[in-house]
Amino acid sequence: MSEQWWRDAVIYQVYLRSFADGSGDGIGDLAGLRARLPYLAGLGVDALWITPWYPSPMADGGYDVADYRDIDPVFGSLAEAEALIDEAHARGLRVLVDIVPNHTSDRHPWFRAALDAGPGAPERERYVFRDAPNDWRSVFGGPAWTRVADGQWYLHLFDAAQPDLNWDHPQVRAEFRDVLRFWLDRGVDGFRVDVAHGMVKDPALPDLGADPEGLVEPPGRADHPHWDRPGVHEIFRSWRKLARRYGDDRVFVAEAWVDSPSRLARYVRPHELHTAFNFDFLRCPWDARRLRSVIDSSIEALGAVGAPATWVLSNHDVIRHVTRYGGLARARAAVLLMLALPGGAYLYQGEELGLDEVDDLPEAVLRDPTWERSGRTRRGRDGCRVPLPWCGDEPPFGFSTGDPWLPQPARWADRTVGAQDDDPRSMLNLYRAALRIRAAHPAFGDGCLSWLDSCPEVLAFRREPGVVCVVNLGPEPVPLPPHRTVLLSSDEPADELPTDAAVWLAI
Ligand code: NOJ
Repeated sequence: MSEQWWRDAVIYQVYLRSFADGSGDGIGDLAGLRARLPYLAGLGVDALWITPWYPSPMADGGYDVADYRDIDPVFGSLAEAEALIDEAHARGLRVLVDIVPNHTSDRHPWFRAALDAGPGAPERERYVFRDAPNDWRSVFGGPAWTRVADGQWYLHLFDAAQPDLNWDHPQVRAEFRDVLRFWLDRGVDGFRVDVAHGMVKDPALPDLGADPEGLVEPPGRADHPHWDRPGVHEIFRSWRKLARRYGDDRVFVAEAWVDSPSRLARYVRPHELHTAFNFDFLRCPWDARRLRSVIDSSIEALGAVGAPATWVLSNHDVIRHVTRYGGLARARAAVLLMLALPGGAYLYQGEELGLDEVDDLPEAVLRDPTWERSGRTRRGRDGCRVPLPWCGDEPPFGFSTGDPWLPQPARWADRTVGAQDDDPRSMLNLYRAALRIRAAHPAFGDGCLSWLDSCPEVLAFRREPGVVCVVNLGPEPVPLPPHRTVLLSSDEPADELPTDAAVWLAI
């Protein structure tokens, strides 16, 4: 495989807690994932991105890391993680792990030491302690500062259990370089970088001074004191250099919520990170004109720095796109659109089953810190994190032998892997077919596209050699352009393309 495998890879996000439970405690784990590797290889993805598996009090689903060099016992052991990496490789799947450098857990030994050492001690300098807070807000709601017993305050852009690190401190920089080496030495193929746009703060910590509710969104201004600061890029250049010592095929993907494709492109300039999630695409409504504009601006901005575009429809932080777009037909069309675009794609576990958002979870089971921090006004992200349905007619649908950590809806009985496996019209088999064709046909993946003339509610573009993708977002069926054969259709292939359908044609 090409060393630049990442330029058009399809990477599958494993939200470990909810993927498959091998131990019977109701929480997904490494044993469950290892047992399902044949499923993932059979699906046809190139790589897995595994959400944080480190020891953690799980205040934020593991994005509160207490030890970056081990595995939480609820997920398994370091030996099992090493075995997983080897087994995935043996099946042709690469493995990316999640690195969380913006903050640690409040249970991390560094934060415990900072608390014990008291105001003014060097141990506090690895975090952001001050005698008085400023007006910054936590992304999850409420102030971004919490007061400790001795009266000082510490900064946390997320939960109070996630104190922000001070990236101006040489020990912080050295520690993460060492953590990267630790996992590279264990054979991982790369890292997804959590909150890549937030690691560096303006040391003066100036007030934002705006409407507090507007403070949690990405910048909107060039000099934002904690989002998308220019200082982050130097860190990524040093990481890229470090990874290069392991060969050119180890990669980084940035989670960076920034203002525009051109700001995003700065993260993937030569010598920085390899790819970045395209959240403009993810946030775009089902609207042909707006999708086309996001597609064009993404390709242009990323192409200008020599980076491939990437595409993503869902992840563990947003409402599942079946629900967002309003139905399975659109989700089927959307994946054919996404997988036909130039560059790489990220899939979120369960989208290949057509899972929808579970928006009626009982309040008592909600775990996302957003729920409490927003004064119980925002339910948070649990609805897209419900454990996968594998087989059977009722919960736990083969996910576990125990009670799943979040209850699954009974309506998923027809969305299990078992129910879809042999049905040629199922979402699962649409994904399998799309990934198979995409991998085999030279027109897909890295490269460019050319738009074809179409009415404004239709997206129609050509990939070379000889493939056309047509997506109908309008209210009326549209005729298909001349073609040799239908490679794949999100609906029953016919002479016309119905509303909310997409087709790949060989011409
Ligand atoms: C982004 C992660 O995707 C999200 O789940 C998490 O809550 C925040 N970063 C904080 O780590």
